[in-house]
Amino acid sequence: MKRSWWRTGLGIGVVASAVGCGAGQGASDSPVCPTTSPMTVAYPASAASAAAAATPPTVEEAREFVRVLDSDLRRLWMQRDRSSWVNQNFITDDTDQLASNAEEASMEYLSRKIREARRFEGLQLPPEIARQIALLKLASAAPAPDNAAERAELATVLTQMGSLYGKGKYCPDRLKGSKAPCLSLHELDDIMAKSRKADELLDAWSGWHGIATPIKPLFQRYVTLSNKGANEIGYGDLGQQWKSGYDMPPAQFEAEVERLWQAVKPLYDELHCYVRARLRKHYGAEKVPEKGPIPAHLLGNMWAQEWANIYDLVAPFPKEPSFDVGKKLAGRKVGAKEMVQKGESFFTSLGLEPLPKTFWERSLLRKPQDRDVVCHASAWDIGSTNDVRIKMCIKPTEEDLITVHHELGHVFYYTQYYKLPILFQSGANDGFHEGIGDTIALSVTPKYLKSLGLIDAEPDNDKARINLLMKQALEKVAFLPFGLLIDKWRWDVFAGKTSPERYNAAWWELRTRYQGVSAPGARGDGAFDPGAKYHIPANTPYMRYFLARILQFQFHRALCKAAGQQGPLDTCSIHGSKAAGEKLRAMLAMGATRPWPEALTAISGETAMDPSALVEYFAPLQAWLRDQNKGQTCGW
Ligand code: ASP
Ligand code: SER
Ligand code: ZN
Repeated sequence: MKRSWWRTGLGIGVVASAVGCGAGQGASDSPVCPTTSPMTVAYPASAASAAAAATPPTVEEAREFVRVLDSDLRRLWMQRDRSSWVNQNFITDDTDQLASNAEEASMEYLSRKIREARRFEGLQLPPEIARQIALLKLASAAPAPDNAAERAELATVLTQMGSLYGKGKYCPDRLKGSKAPCLSLHELDDIMAKSRKADELLDAWSGWHGIATPIKPLFQRYVTLSNKGANEIGYGDLGQQWKSGYDMPPAQFEAEVERLWQAVKPLYDELHCYVRARLRKHYGAEKVPEKGPIPAHLLGNMWAQEWANIYDLVAPFPKEPSFDVGKKLAGRKVGAKEMVQKGESFFTSLGLEPLPKTFWERSLLRKPQDRDVVCHASAWDIGSTNDVRIKMCIKPTEEDLITVHHELGHVFYYTQYYKLPILFQSGANDGFHEGIGDTIALSVTPKYLKSLGLIDAEPDNDKARINLLMKQALEKVAFLPFGLLIDKWRWDVFAGKTSPERYNAAWWELRTRYQGVSAPGARGDGAFDPGAKYHIPANTPYMRYFLARILQFQFHRALCKAAGQQGPLDTCSIHGSKAAGEKLRAMLAMGATRPWPEALTAISGETAMDPSALVEYFAPLQAWLRDQNKGQTCGW
């Protein structure tokens, strides 16, 4: 993930209301709009602003407001992010408290400034000023209520949820009373990836999902409190605010997401059908139904979100080489730092500057043995001073090599935009931020891996190509419905359509409807399975990952073109292309200064998100799958 979830994109609807009257949204300096400020009068923030409300607002005043805002936010967010960094690297009651305090201070400031900014509603402002003011309302993924006690409670609840997840452990009976430590997600993930015994998988799956039970009451409070906060700044509920970060009205964003999903769903359906048949062969008919959903513990991943770990069970041509990078990484004892250096070298090959020295001094790359940390991979930019870091408990696996590239994508975004006004220091939209490192990882082709000495040979025939495409599809295509449903679930929760009693049932309804997976067995009354997925307790919006899966193929296609590559997309690598690097840099350096379609134009010349690049990439595999699935009843 990217840590700075609170800095996101911007909705056109919001720009319109911030810029307000008249069509001329150019850099006019004269306030030509009538100024209605009943909101400001109704919510005087302080004596000073109440006095200010008596006089009409001016462009100069707005400019000064934004200048002060920028400097205050730098200070407050630096403090908050440092506290949070320490907390997540060293989870104790004290660091929980310090992190909540800093969070609370930022929240208080943000709500106050959002209230004060209402004064400028209806005033015609230069676009960069209007956009910063509009971004202010989107700057927190959990806006706090004005009430001080409720705000403090929300800050505490957020920290506690994150820490409960970070400390989560499963203590199986067989370990009770023994000296062996209980199992953390780090170990349980390994079991999910490597075990091929259904009972063992079920044990690890159920064990981990058990950690979420105590998160549920906190989550309920967070829903109530952050909804209230969102409401006070003008959104119907928190989901409405999240959906407002895409330069279009929320309803249009929902339709947009649906359009993208429908374009890729046929490919997912073929993959699901094929994988189910193969799993049935391995696990037997009583474990894997012929026509129903696949039990969620059999797909090689705790959340059944990416399936590449079960490649061995579904390999199209098992006799062809599989290009097992993990084997080489582990066999050669490639260290965590070396893996990150390999990732960095890809970015520098495009002409981007190497990472600052402090990145290497301050990042956390390995799981500490003696304390609780939040191991979920994340990238950080602290204080807008190019103080960039990643925090990740790296293992020598192919999956982690890809995640390293993912996190570095965030970091190189930060290094390109840290000199912008702080409210512009985010992705064009949050899907862009999540998609950069993945785009680079698409260029980590066998040819490139061979040059690193991580595989011995390149694929040289159609069968090997289908093998490789299968591995990519297990990672990318399998993820699509998962990426979609997490926030479909949360949108309904925030909107009050899903009540707390139905949290778990609604979760599994969506998991079944979109992914075609089922809960492995009945779930008990206390179960809160969504809470066992990092981004739920961490309050990180998730639709960004769905968008990123679509966008990364679009970026890849554009950069391959810039690099002068003519072959099929799955064989293209932009490694070493300064021309591609220049296009990438142009987009990254824009941060969130402009609506995202303009950033998309900078890299690709296109203005709309386009699923056709993903479909084109997987076309040979889709044809092969269709053939394999002939005679099967697909669907669930
Ligand atoms: N970047 C990933 C995500 O956003 C991190 C991971 O795969 O662990 O959550
Ligand atoms: N990094 C995201 C997650 O772990 C998407 O892969 O869920
Ligand atoms: Zn990320």
